[in-house]
Amino acid sequence: MEDNPPRLVILYESQTGNALDVAERVGREAERMGSTGVVLSMDEIDAACLQYENILVFVVSTIGQGDIPDSMKVFWRFLLQRNLSQSWLEGVNYAVFGLGDSGYQKYNFAAKKLDKRLSDLGVKSIIGRGLGDDQHPSGYEGVLDP
Ligand SMILES: Cc1cc2nc3c(=O)[nH]c(=O)nc-3n(C[C@H](O)[C@H](O)[C@H](O)COP(=O)(O)O)c2cc1C
Repeated sequence: MEDNPPRLVILYESQTGNALDVAERVGREAERMGSTGVVLSMDEIDAACLQYENILVFVVSTIGQGDIPDSMKVFWRFLLQRNLSQSWLEGVNYAVFGLGDSGYQKYNFAAKKLDKRLSDLGVKSIIGRGLGDDQHPSGYEGVLDP
């Protein structure tokens, strides 16, 4: 048995606040279950330090026409480096929750691209990505809740 409960680092980027709400909710749920949940905007982190974490939860919305929001751009550029080692996030587990609207052609593009890149880098996913949809009768919570 571990001495310390796992710590979740919940990284979000948000244009109008939905992703922040989701990140804070995940943080509260984590704490309710005895973990520590640290909620940070993606432009507040040094990506090179993520290798020291246990669990990373990404909560990302898609804006414009399938664009990655500005607050995620530095992190995204870091991830796309060709010389990034496959073992960079060895031992780290991740989950991705996207916020989008299936009325747009590039539905949840930011979350899908992020999930694919992490998976291509060999990072271990703990749960299939969740894609919140504004068109769902319950909004993004229709996918977040289950
Ligand atoms: C101007 C605008 C452009 C959007 N473009 C997309 C898009 O290309 N693809 C998509 O899946 N969702 C798109 N959305 C939907 C948002 O991703 C969705 O409303 C999300 O919940 C916003 O999260 P946020 O408040 O964290 O920014 C767009 C929303 C707005 C207002």
